[in-house]
Parts: sequence; C-alpha cells; structure tokens
Amino acid sequence: MKLLVINGVNLGMTGRREKGVYGAQTLDEINEEIRAFCAEKGHTVDFFRSDLEGEVCRAIHGAQGKYDGIALNAGAFTHYSYAIRDAIASVSVPVVEVHMSNVHAREEFRKKSVLTEVCRGEVLGFGKNSYKLALESFWL
Ligand code: DQA
Repeated sequence: MKLLVINGVNLGMTGRREKGVYGAQTLDEINEEIRAFCAEKGHTVDFFRSDLEGEVCRAIHGAQGKYDGIALNAGAFTHYSYAIRDAIASVSVPVVEVHMSNVHAREEFRKKSVLTEVCRGEVLGFGKNSYKLALESFWL
C-alpha cells in the first residue's frame, strides 16, 4: 500500500514543545520510525507537514488516486477547521484521524473534533504509536 501521513499546525514543534504531552522525539525522528514500521510490512509512506490550513487541504486533494490511505493529525485545526473537514469529504481516499495525546483527558475545547464524522476512524492517546496504529488499520 501507498500511504500518506499529514501533520498540521504546530506538529513541526514536536520534541520541542510540551514534551510531557507529545514526547521528546522530533517529528523527523518519529517519521523515520513510521517509515521503518511500514517498510517492514511491505508498505510505503510519504509525509507532509504544514502550519497552513489551505496547504493541508491541498495535500488531501492531491492524495486522491495516489494513496490508499491517509493518517491525519491536523493538530488544533481538528477542533474548528470546516475547510479540512470538507477536503476530507471531497476525496474517496480513506482518512484516519490521529492524535498523540488523549484529547478527551485534556481541555474542554479539545474534546470536539469537526473531522471525525468524515473520517474512517480515529486513533488517539498512544503518543507516536497513534500514527502506526492508524496506518496499520489500512492493511489489517
Ligand atoms: C494533537 C491534539 C490537539 O488538540 C493539539 O492542538 C495538537 C496535537 C495531538 O496530537 O494530540 O496540536 O492533535
């Protein structure tokens, strides 16, 4: 399978921000682990990251016909971006929503996702392994 991981706003700060919540590894280090995990199972994975909402939308549009699945951690966009929600709804490639932290055990505003309804499923609370579990769902 050809899979895509998309990270949205502030995820590029992983390893440098709120280490108690998101861990001390950088996103590049996490991505390398994810790449090895997928390669072991015979799958390829590409990575896209942006702090800009429209760029995340474009990455989703561009995945149509090119990827078999997307693991999307939209960061704070999750909680309010109708644009990203509509982008997900506009493609047939399945999207699994990802969060490293358990958003339900945190601030009230994080409990609401405007994306979940248009996603195939959701994986949250397992740190960097949330990405691996989300990707695994495409080949299980
Ligand atoms: C996050 C949770 C979001 O609420 C937050 O805004 C993030 C990261 C997570 O991976 O746990 O930036 O998506």
